[in-house]
Amino acid sequence: MTGNRKPFARITAGIADELRALVGSAYVTVDQDALQLYGQDETEDLVFPPEVVVKPGTVQDISGVFAIATREHIAVTPRGGGTGLSGGALPVRGGILLSMERFNRILEIDEKNLQAVVEPGVITQKLQEAVEERGLYYPPDPASRGSCHIGGNLAECAGGPHAVKYGVTKDYVLGIEAVLPNGEVFTTGARVLKNVSGYNLTQLLVGSEGTLAVITRVMLRLVPMPRHRKVVLVAFGSLEDAASAVATIFQRGITPSALEFLERAAVKAAEERQGKKFPNGDAAAQLLIEVDGFHEESLSEEIQVIADAVEQHHAVDVLLAEDRAKVEEVWALRRGIGEAVKSISAYREEDTVVPRAKLPELVAGTKRICGGYGLTTICYGHAGDGNVHVNILKDTMDQQTWERVIDPAIRELFAFVASLGGTISAEHGIGFSQKEYLPIALSPVELRLMRDIKDVFDPSGILNPGKVFPG
Ligand code: LAC
Ligand code: ZN
Repeated sequence: MTGNRKPFARITAGIADELRALVGSAYVTVDQDALQLYGQDETEDLVFPPEVVVKPGTVQDISGVFAIATREHIAVTPRGGGTGLSGGALPVRGGILLSMERFNRILEIDEKNLQAVVEPGVITQKLQEAVEERGLYYPPDPASRGSCHIGGNLAECAGGPHAVKYGVTKDYVLGIEAVLPNGEVFTTGARVLKNVSGYNLTQLLVGSEGTLAVITRVMLRLVPMPRHRKVVLVAFGSLEDAASAVATIFQRGITPSALEFLERAAVKAAEERQGKKFPNGDAAAQLLIEVDGFHEESLSEEIQVIADAVEQHHAVDVLLAEDRAKVEEVWALRRGIGEAVKSISAYREEDTVVPRAKLPELVAGTKRICGGYGLTTICYGHAGDGNVHVNILKDTMDQQTWERVIDPAIRELFAFVASLGGTISAEHGIGFSQKEYLPIALSPVELRLMRDIKDVFDPSGILNPGKVFPG
């Protein structure tokens, strides 16, 4: 039961030895530095060291780990690249940290069917580069793509800038091999593009944050790599102008391959951290817009439509970034914002999303609500998806005030987001850091169904405990 309060057993020397005998002593560590390292991801400053790190090499290893964990009632937390932003991979109840880093092979790139079969420990960017060599594209590209794992991307249903045209991780997963907490290995889905044979267990596992099963193999769909890309940077004199231009672009019939919103403070943070400059870095807000496709002329036409659309919203500058190196630099700055903001001060990272046309209300409401608590915010993100990352900074606020106001501020912000028809996480997940807020987004019936599903997969509650569900 997810409400199961039975205390977890601790890792004894005997259990550590049993784990060593199972997976090999090189792949079991109780070294304090390693425990510290594997006790963190990219979520704020949270640290929950496990008692032991186990690096399985085979599916049988994982079944064996679960046999021990079930017998002793030990918590098991799976982990990919450790880049999560909601603490999904943090071993908050101690026990075994199951690092999937040895499952790092691309097993097949099927050019005839535009598919790939990979293990979960493959780094997302490595997969992207491998398929690109064959003219193919795996679009989901979280900012951490250089170090995150496909398995973690599935667990959290990662998004990223290109989701606006291409969809998020779930839109590319055809099937999954996974291990249940009872040790059983099973496969969902099939290598087909249409499949209504029974409930969609594949999509249930995607976004389940490592709480239902441990993913060991993934069948993915690919698309052809577009041959051309163009990037345009649009500067605005106010956040509202930038936010309101977004929906207009789509209404004019254009689906950009990326449409990012950046307020000045986000741009400044990245510039400082990387020692590079954004064009128009002093504008109150910018939209970073990319179009891609197979015919260069149609991209030029799309850029023209975009230029007209932003004009209507008082754009102060529209800059076509022609130089490839400059485009790469702008994207590197954009991808670095999260890390840059993190280095400013203690903060809380929220992942709001609303229907696209409500963006101006979301941005204005965020400033109004958080400002009302004396809190500074930095907003940026995937505006084309209606997805704004709201980073709430502690900055110079004293610790006592911060602790008093941060939770009510987030609750008020989320209630506002819900009132706009949005929800509290678009791509970072609920994990550990957002779980107390989940009832703001879900009804009691939805929560009950989700708890029941958790119980079906993991009746003893040993897999990634302390996640998703409040209380
Ligand atoms: C980004 C991460 C924080 O968009 O989702 O940079
Ligand atoms: Zn993002």
